[in-house]
Amino acid sequence: MINIPKGTKDVLPTESYKWQYVEKVARETASLFNLKEIRTPTFEHTELFQRGVGDTSDIVTKEMYTFKDKGDRSITLKPEGTAGAVRSFIENGMAGGVLPAKMFYITPAFRYERPQAGRLREFHQFGVEIFGAKGAQTDAEAIIIAHTLLKKLGIQASLYINSIGCPTCRKKYNQALKEFFAPHLDELCYDCKTRYEKNPLRLLDCKEENCKKVNATAPSLLDYLCEECNAHFEETKKYLQIAGVEFAINPRIVRGLDYYTRTVFEFVSTAIGAQGTVCGGGRYDGLIEELGGNALPAVGFAVGIERLLIVMEQTGAQMPEEKKPTVYIAGMDEKSRMKAFALCDTLRQNGVEAEVDHMERSIKAQFKYADKLGAKFVAVIGGNELAEGVMSVKNMTTGESEKVAFTSVVEYFQNK
Ligand code: HAM
Repeated sequence: MINIPKGTKDVLPTESYKWQYVEKVARETASLFNLKEIRTPTFEHTELFQRGVGDTSDIVTKEMYTFKDKGDRSITLKPEGTAGAVRSFIENGMAGGVLPAKMFYITPAFRYERPQAGRLREFHQFGVEIFGAKGAQTDAEAIIIAHTLLKKLGIQASLYINSIGCPTCRKKYNQALKEFFAPHLDELCYDCKTRYEKNPLRLLDCKEENCKKVNATAPSLLDYLCEECNAHFEETKKYLQIAGVEFAINPRIVRGLDYYTRTVFEFVSTAIGAQGTVCGGGRYDGLIEELGGNALPAVGFAVGIERLLIVMEQTGAQMPEEKKPTVYIAGMDEKSRMKAFALCDTLRQNGVEAEVDHMERSIKAQFKYADKLGAKFVAVIGGNELAEGVMSVKNMTTGESEKVAFTSVVEYFQNK
């Protein structure tokens, strides 16, 4: 037997309705905020992520699924959705269209991580990107979109926000971080020594216990924000307050991707343990230009769909039940089974969800099967019914039965 690859999951036919529900709510939320769907390829040129996500991030240095295709090109399965959306925005000249360009996607993403609850190697994101708007109102709107989705799904998660400033204030802050960490270099993990040289901000994101201990007293970026970045952060908070969205400031949030500027945020649930971040995002004003477009600001976020589903399951969030067939048609003998097949087909062609037996079951076993399917109505056809041109239909909710003529089954079931 060949097993599923480590860190991947099947969505079985018995549970896919949960995914469909979350995706439906995500699409409805997107529509409320006038976001249009974008679909980009599952793989891109490796360079897009090296330049986009950043070559000091763990994602690029350790976690990408990169391979050479048969034309000797370096290809990478997308580890996230933002870089591809930005590439497409630039390549399709969307900057010349209506701004802001507001879009969303539902996409698989691939990261070679150590799998655990809520952490997979193939996972799925609902992501939102808004291109072209620089004001704090749009930072707040991105957060409000995520907040609205979580609320609609009945997910309790705390919102943490921070500002990581612009390249100008970050330069000063990186210097301060280097001075702070210099006497502690021996206590840091191997990776952090590289981070210290290449991108000191990354030091704050390390998950190693020793590094976390040192980090705890590191200077806060918020004390180094330039006047504009500080004003932007204050305004973002104001807009969130206007919308009644509760938040806490967490100066330790730096995010695992290199493209962020100014506002960064995460929604964290306590229901999954270590992988409680159900949503992450922020502003990335330098990325469009970095990837070859005009200098245009942008902001966005992504939620992990697997994590949403885990939280919903753990907390017993309400979810509609799996869709059931409207009617199951049982046939007693060969002729009645033929009629059941024909009527079932007529119903389906007219938009009614109907089912018949495929396994040559006895009539008793068919009733059991109909019960398992959860059919709202069970219809029976036998010799007498065939002769009369009717079927006996039982409403499984009320227990009432009535005869329905073969000629009027469509009208009978169409509105049930
Ligand atoms: P991210 O924080 O790397 O951000 O991922 C967003 C969300 O995807 C996480 O909060 C988490 O719910 C989910 N996620 C990430 N890695 C895994 C994994 N290995 N297994 C399961 N779920 C996972 C981004 O990807 C940015 N592109 C978000 C963004 C959009 N920023 C601006 N625009």
